[in-house]
This record gives sequence, structure tokens and C-alpha cells, in this order.
Amino acid sequence: MTQSSEKIALVTGATAGIGTVTARALAQQGFHVVLLARNADKAARTRREIQQLAQPGRRVDVLLCDLSDLGQVRRAAEEFRQRYGHLDVLVNNAGLVLGDERQVSADGYELTLATNHLGPLLLTNLLLDKLQQSPTARIVNVASMAYQFAKPDFKTLEVAGSYSPMRAYANSKLYNIMFTQELARRLRQRGITTVTTNSLHPGVVASSFGQSSNWFTRAFYKVAAPFMTSSEEGAQTSIYLATAPEVANISGGYFVKKRPEAVKSGYNTLENAQQLWQLSEQLTGATFL
Ligand SMILES: NC(=O)c1ccc[n+]([C@@H]2O[C@H](COP(=O)([O-])OP(=O)(O)OC[C@H]3O[C@@H](n4cnc5c(N)ncnc54)[C@H](OP(=O)(O)O)[C@@H]3O)[C@@H](O)[C@H]2O)c1
Repeated sequence: MTQSSEKIALVTGATAGIGTVTARALAQQGFHVVLLARNADKAARTRREIQQLAQPGRRVDVLLCDLSDLGQVRRAAEEFRQRYGHLDVLVNNAGLVLGDERQVSADGYELTLATNHLGPLLLTNLLLDKLQQSPTARIVNVASMAYQFAKPDFKTLEVAGSYSPMRAYANSKLYNIMFTQELARRLRQRGITTVTTNSLHPGVVASSFGQSSNWFTRAFYKVAAPFMTSSEEGAQTSIYLATAPEVANISGGYFVKKRPEAVKSGYNTLENAQQLWQLSEQLTGATFL
């Protein structure tokens, strides 16, 4: 178990892009950083790089987990619980857009939904008591402005109509935002004031994003890369929400360039948020607040 005075941050998807920059900044600010990653080699390399830049005496650890596999999420959460006494910052950053063919996760769910929404939701659920062990804790969910193109079916959480990888991605990012809002409501209703949660759009970032998608998305990201934001820039709102004193008491917001923005989606209703919550609980097999 780690010392209780130490600030601990868990960053998912820290082996590339925005997640690496976020994890590095938190290590430089004195956090003991835990990198959740699915690829052991990439994780070891990232850990070494960040450890060299971390404040003296601060550790950087790795927690291996493929977020699309709920069994692995349960095992990783249990490992975290055994190794650490509390959690101060959870950055749910990992995410992807897939190719034209609909793929399913180890649990039989559409793979974008499993990776971008169900895995992070279950992880957050299983670590909530560790977040409550911290005097003040923050959950930061990396969403996307792509939520505006969502077309969800709230009875299944699948794409309404025929499958499209971009729609599946947009849906998952709308779910990230609605989950954040509903989690904030539920924390408030239960009088849990020490844990806050906010979501964000990082900008259109030239990272490894899109590389697991179809040829069109890969080509778009390649051609447009020189005109896009860097991962350094893209991570700034995540770092801000994870650490800035001025947002310490804000919860349930959606931020772009460090500023709160309205969520412009007709799907973003209280009824849909509750349906999303209940169905996500059913699909992950875990009740939550
Ligand atoms: N780039 C953009 O333009 C943009 C725009 C809006 C929102 N976002 C969001 O920003 C976040 C970070 O994206 P990025 O641009 O930094 O992308 P990235 O460079 O592709 O990095 C994605 C990270 O997520 C990890 N990951 C993917 N699937 C995973 C799984 N099943 N289990 C565990 N980790 C997994 C990747 O691991 P591997 O290294 O093993 O692949 C990688 O570390 C995502 O949530 C994305 O939706 C990005």
C-alpha cells in the first residue's frame, strides 16, 4: 500500500497521444501516476520515459488492462485496490474509432461501445470508494465534439439503424458526456461532495487516433495532421480539469479549451441519461450509486 499523503492519479490510454502528455504533466506536478494500458511493451516504454521526468521520489506504475474486456477491468480494479489506499484523480482518456466492420468485445458488445463507454464506466464504478478515500478527488472523462453526430438507440446503446464506425464513436462520446452529467447528479444526490467529475473535448489532435479505423479516417488524419492541434495542446483541458484549483468544486460540466460549454444534443435528456445508466449497469453487471 502507498503512503496516504501521496497524490495518486490513474490515467487510461497513457501509451499514446493525449494520455501520455496528461500522465507526464501529472507526474511533473508530483502525482504518483499509474498508467492503465493494454500493451505491455508500450506501457513499459512510456513508464520509463515519464519516470525520468517525474518529481524526485514519485513513482510511475503500470496497470495492464484491455478496457474493452470487462473481466480484465474487474481484475485491474482489484489489483489497483490491493496496491493503493486511495485515488485522487482518475482520467478516463483511452478511446478509439474502429473500422467499417462491426466488431464485438470479449463480452459480446460492439467494440467501440465496450472500449469507450462500458469499460471506463465499470472502472469508475469499481474505484469509486478509492476516490472517496481521498479528501478531494476528480474524475475526468475525455469525450469529443463528435457527440453531435450521435444516433443512439437507448434500448440497446447500439447505433440506431445500420452500423457505421463514426456513428458508434459519436454515440460512445455522447455516452461519456451523459455519464459524466448523471454521475455528478448521483454524487450530489447522495451527499458525496468530495468527488467531482467533468468531461471535455480535447480539440482535433494529431495523435495516433484513427489508426485503427477505416482507410478514409486514416487518410483524413494523415492529410490533416499538419493543421491539427498537437497532443501537448490537446491534453491541456484534461490537465486543467484534473488539477486546477478554480474547477475544484465544479461537477457535471463539459469543457472545451478549459471553458464550460453547453451540450447541444436533443438526445441529452434526463430520461435518456437514466436509461443509459440503467442499461450500462445491466451490461456491465454492476450496480453503481
Ligand atoms: N485525436 C483527436 O482528434 C480526438 C478528438 C476528440 C476526442 N479524442 C479523444 O481523446 C482520447 C485520447 O485520444 P488520442 O487522440 O490520444 O488517441 P491515441 O493517440 O490513439 O491514444 C489512444 C490511447 O487509448 C488506448 N486504448 C485504446 N483502446 C484501448 C483499450 N481497449 N484498452 C486500453 N487502452 C486502450 C491506446 O492504447 P494503445 O497504445 O495500446 O493503442 C492509446 O494509449 C480518446 O478518448 C479520444 O476519443 C481525440
